[in-house]
Amino acid sequence: MSMELLMNSDNPEKVLQTMQPFIESMMHYECALMEIETKLKVLNTEFASQYNRNPFESIRCRLKKPLSIVEKMKRKGLEISIENIEENLTDIAGVRVICSFPEDIYTVSELLTKQDDIRVVCVKDYIRNPKPNGYRSLHLIVEIPIFLSNEKKYMKVEVQFRTIAMDFWASLDHKLKYKKDNLKHPEIIAKELKKCADTITAMDYKMQEIRSLLE
Ligand code: GTP
Ligand code: MG
Repeated sequence: MSMELLMNSDNPEKVLQTMQPFIESMMHYECALMEIETKLKVLNTEFASQYNRNPFESIRCRLKKPLSIVEKMKRKGLEISIENIEENLTDIAGVRVICSFPEDIYTVSELLTKQDDIRVVCVKDYIRNPKPNGYRSLHLIVEIPIFLSNEKKYMKVEVQFRTIAMDFWASLDHKLKYKKDNLKHPEIIAKELKKCADTITAMDYKMQEIRSLLE
């Protein structure tokens, strides 16, 4: 797909024809999201019936917006083509799994990655190695096959695992990120947020300890 063709064409049919491969690729990512979501829900259901509790609280799926895809490709200095996008962007399909306790994150992520149709591309453990700002989450890039009428295609999906507390923290930190330029002293807020991250970490493990005492 060439962007020039898209911009210059006066012919709507031609534009649509040009966009078709992109629309198809997005549909493939959507299918991959459905596969991952189902796998996680199956684990949750099985776990609930065996241990009488849910290993995760909630799950959210999202597809990256076309504009964000184009912007990210530009940032990376890559030419826009379906092949380049599918090869280089790993977060077009994103799943966020919110767990109650840190140890559940490792339980669920291991149960997912050991399934024999899943390929693990990359693991970033920001729980064992938090970012300097205090960000914590477990990130996986996995490839999952989708079965189309005439092919089996592996699609990349980014799966982020967080506790409720980590998610609460990350959403406030996200606000700081895009409001930063309008703030007088963003560094003071960043410092306060880092303190919150430390408090939240301590709380996550304290709560986990209490849970294990109750079991
Ligand atoms: P992106 O290009 O931004 O996707 O990041 P990356 O390729 O360096 O990968 P990384 O695994 O570090 O981050 C992927 C995603 O994790 C981001 O798009 C955010 O959703 C989330 N994330 C990473 N770092 C932070 C952070 O400091 N704060 C918040 N709120 N979210 C973060
Ligand atoms: Mg991203």
